[in-house]
Amino acid sequence: MTFSPEDLTLALTDFPDLDHALYQQLAPTIVAGWNQMVAHHKACYQDAWASYTGLIDATGTISGMDLDAAVTILDGKGSATTGGLPDWISRQIPVDLGNFADVPDNKKIYALDGRYQLGDEEMHRASLMRHLRPLLRPETQAVIELGAGCGRNLGRLLAQTGRRDITYISCEQSPSGLAVFRGLLAAQEDVAHRAVPFDFNEPDLECLTGFDHILVFTCAAIEQIPFLRQSLITDILAVAPQVDLAFFEPVGWQRFGNIATFVADGFCRELSGQVPQSQFHKAGFTYRLQDDCFIDNAASWALAGRYNMNLVPLVQKALNAKVASMTSLAWDSFGSNPFNPMSFLSLSKI
Ligand SMILES: C[S@@+](CC[C@H](N)C(=O)[O-])C[C@H]1O[C@@H](n2cnc3c(N)ncnc32)[C@H](O)[C@@H]1O
Repeated sequence: MTFSPEDLTLALTDFPDLDHALYQQLAPTIVAGWNQMVAHHKACYQDAWASYTGLIDATGTISGMDLDAAVTILDGKGSATTGGLPDWISRQIPVDLGNFADVPDNKKIYALDGRYQLGDEEMHRASLMRHLRPLLRPETQAVIELGAGCGRNLGRLLAQTGRRDITYISCEQSPSGLAVFRGLLAAQEDVAHRAVPFDFNEPDLECLTGFDHILVFTCAAIEQIPFLRQSLITDILAVAPQVDLAFFEPVGWQRFGNIATFVADGFCRELSGQVPQSQFHKAGFTYRLQDDCFIDNAASWALAGRYNMNLVPLVQKALNAKVASMTSLAWDSFGSNPFNPMSFLSLSKI
């Protein structure tokens, strides 16, 4: 799917303080940059998950290890860390370490509950599960991850809960990610599962139908979608009589109107071609590891990555329309990249 200037104009209605007349005029250029980025992300993730397809044997199964061990392999090797920060982060942005200047290499700096704190790798593995597990009800029949990548979250949920009565559904754009998930669950012969091609930008929700009670979630996937389509939440809530819908996404900064405007404005200005790359926000910004810079850092990371800007407004609209109630909310709960903290928001259909 390619976005049109009208799609941008509609998306920007969530940001009343922008110069709408200007961005309507510049919309064709902004949208061209947006479309280019979507294609680039698609190619990158296909390659990333393809690095695990070698684990799949001739029978189409990732076998020879228990589910927990297989999921740990799918977590990846973890990147080299120096002074508490992954090297890949320190290489690409200037960081003022402040009080974290003397962190030993065996410790990592995380974002935790809105602050920068030291921790260990186990926190990373537990970060999503501690929020998600309580949402699995006895009556839940299917759990669906949208933008599931290689399916490690679904695999970990099965390994940790032992819920073999649930159908596990991976919805993902990249064929390689879907193949790895199929291989992972094929080894669990008594567990129903499906791997379904899915694109947030033209979502086909047919695969979510046929159940009375479902749990749908995303993890670091909506971050990749600058503007979700306006009807996504209500469309998901409509597919079953009972729906729990959860998001673990780096969107905490979106709750501050002035910061949200700043990011949306930066996105439009930088993609419009009117601002030279040397004057992009990221070219002049230093990330300070201080708690009072937490939100500015997260918003700057989102702007630089062209990350999602409208999940929080869409959740708010669903609440206002009383189609859902909020069942949990943990702003800036965890970031293994401290500058990209995930918030957990969950809704239940009314
Ligand atoms: C950072 S990865 C996270 C994967 C997985 N949720 C996890 O936590 O391991 C982002 C995922 O979003 C997927 N994604 C990006 N754009 C998408 C789109 N338009 N539709 C569906 N999935 C998309 C990517 O293919 C990738 O698998």
